[in-house]
Amino acid sequence: MSSADVGKRAAARMAADFVQSGMRLGLGSGSTFLFVLERLAERIRDEQLEIAGVPTSKGTAEAARKFGIPLLSMTEIEHLDLAIDGADEVDPNKNMIKGGGAAHVREKIVAAAAKELLVVIDESKMVEVLGRAFLLPVEILRFGWRQAARAIETTGCVPQLRAVASGEPLITDNGNYILDCKYDEIPDPARLHDLLNSLPGVLDNGLFVGMAGRVIIGERSGKVRLIP
Ligand code: A5P
Repeated sequence: MSSADVGKRAAARMAADFVQSGMRLGLGSGSTFLFVLERLAERIRDEQLEIAGVPTSKGTAEAARKFGIPLLSMTEIEHLDLAIDGADEVDPNKNMIKGGGAAHVREKIVAAAAKELLVVIDESKMVEVLGRAFLLPVEILRFGWRQAARAIETTGCVPQLRAVASGEPLITDNGNYILDCKYDEIPDPARLHDLLNSLPGVLDNGLFVGMAGRVIIGERSGKVRLIP
């Protein structure tokens, strides 16, 4: 296991241990979240933990089924007790970039329906300023995507259409494209979030501003830190 995975797994296991029987969960997406599913499955087996969760991606739905975790759809719930998810970058104000796995639109909807978004990351995800290293994902409609890309460019970035291995554009679970946008940095995430989402054809961008609850950071050594 890589040192990043040691941190991811340690953080994920602590998060899964906060889950209580009877909870309805938001199930995040990504490699860190898979370790949450692994631990939840252990607790279902060993402690008869009773939970059900709304998946934020087709990938998570498939993984949850393999782990034997009962699923719910968004239409079945009023609210969720807790959402757990990874992140690509987290700044000192707990603002985040998400969407490396192309799931940020559903992740934001699910997080907004939850009493708390519990974030699980390894220490490499903590940054001083968002956007210096990671490209900001923006989900856009396929219709008129070149126009949307040009409008997004005027916000100060270089957008690049995300592709799959074959070179074809990646299609999200919602049937759309992703533009990965390279900014020098994102000093005012709230402003950029609103600006991007005001552009025609933009579904949602990967900035999560003021949404994170507790953040659990797993270190390479396997130790964990919690930001309340
Ligand atoms: C999915 O679209 C993302 O928001 C993930 O939560 C994020 O990319 C973290 O993924 P990893 O846990 O794989 O780093």
